Amino acid sequence: MAIKNLRYKRLLIAPITAALFLSACTNAAQNKTKEAENEQIVDTHSDDGKDLIGLSMPSQYLERWNRDGQYLKNLFEEMGYEVDLQFAGNMIDTQIDIIDEMIDSGVDILVIGAVDGLSLTKVIERAYYAGIPIVAYDRLICNTEYVSAYVSFDNYQVGRLQGEYVEEALDLKNAGRKSYNIEFTAGDSVDNNARYFFDGAMDVLSPYIEKGNLKIPSGQYDFYSVSTPQWSTESAHTRFEILIGSYYSGTNTLDAVVCSNDSTSLGVQDAISNNYQEKNSVVITGQDCDEENLKRLMNGSQSMDVYKNLSYEAYVTVKLVDSLYHGQEMSQELADGWNLGYTCVYDTTTYDNGKIVVPAFLLEPVAITKENAIEQLVDTYGTYVISDDGSLKVAE
Ligand code: BGC
Repeated sequence: MAIKNLRYKRLLIAPITAALFLSACTNAAQNKTKEAENEQIVDTHSDDGKDLIGLSMPSQYLERWNRDGQYLKNLFEEMGYEVDLQFAGNMIDTQIDIIDEMIDSGVDILVIGAVDGLSLTKVIERAYYAGIPIVAYDRLICNTEYVSAYVSFDNYQVGRLQGEYVEEALDLKNAGRKSYNIEFTAGDSVDNNARYFFDGAMDVLSPYIEKGNLKIPSGQYDFYSVSTPQWSTESAHTRFEILIGSYYSGTNTLDAVVCSNDSTSLGVQDAISNNYQEKNSVVITGQDCDEENLKRLMNGSQSMDVYKNLSYEAYVTVKLVDSLYHGQEMSQELADGWNLGYTCVYDTTTYDNGKIVVPAFLLEPVAITKENAIEQLVDTYGTYVISDDGSLKVAE
């Protein structure tokens, strides 16, 4: 494909829209000389005239990112784009290398689920000066003015759903003088989302901590003390084993654990199941509706999950990229015009990345329990099926 023609196309559409997306293209022109001086972009595209999307996903080790990658790839291909999909194994340097290579190979647009939202500043700048618009997928890319848009779920609401579940399960509104013990497990502190999840849950639960209805025997409740490097199941497991051994081996009962997602929830559940007597009485949250976690939801060891329909997230991303690529401006009307059949909010105030407030398209997360899992995931969304052994599996 003739990358030069594509650049020319971008320059033509740039004046008719104020969208940030296209400022990358305009700047491509202004900085062409600079870029040409510094680097030579090699056009390795096939000659089929298709525009190439560089899809950089954070990790192949968690169920969700594989699904995101596959949904995005299929949808972009259906829309006539070519796709270079790569996973970074949760490694910051690997992701930077991948994006660098994508720039060198002449991708036209980058869609990035960041491993570490703060570490991509340089490579994003390089992409921008090469005229490549960047869309942040699921996780915000921070510390750069060169991100055009962000597509995600309402991350704060994810945390609120977890907090509200605990509030209801322990009947905290009517707790009177009763008190319960709770612990927290947050996500990776370098993932911008992790903070939003944690704050959402905390905003629901902290009034009860202040009133004394919730106690935290470990004393660990600030974000950094409870965060989990790489969202790792093993790290969450190890931390919880220590925590149970130190604070719950005597008479203290453990009533609830807020886990920001499913991978950390697995570690916490395993630590509880191996080390804590009253294992089935602990209220435990999660997020993602991974298959193993849904199994545990059904057998009672996980109390709730938060469902984020990844096919919606991928679809919105593809529609957004395609709309912007064709010169449309970002607005609520743009999203409404996609006739999604589900809520997608255009938000221009929440996602301050340290340099700019990144315009965001946000989807709604849903609380899942044993009671509503089949009705929501199988009957309503149709994204899961009941397999022969009765467990819920992602629909092919
Ligand atoms: C995602 C979650 C996921 C976590 C770990 C977050 O950024 O929003 O869905 O569980 O990363 O991969």
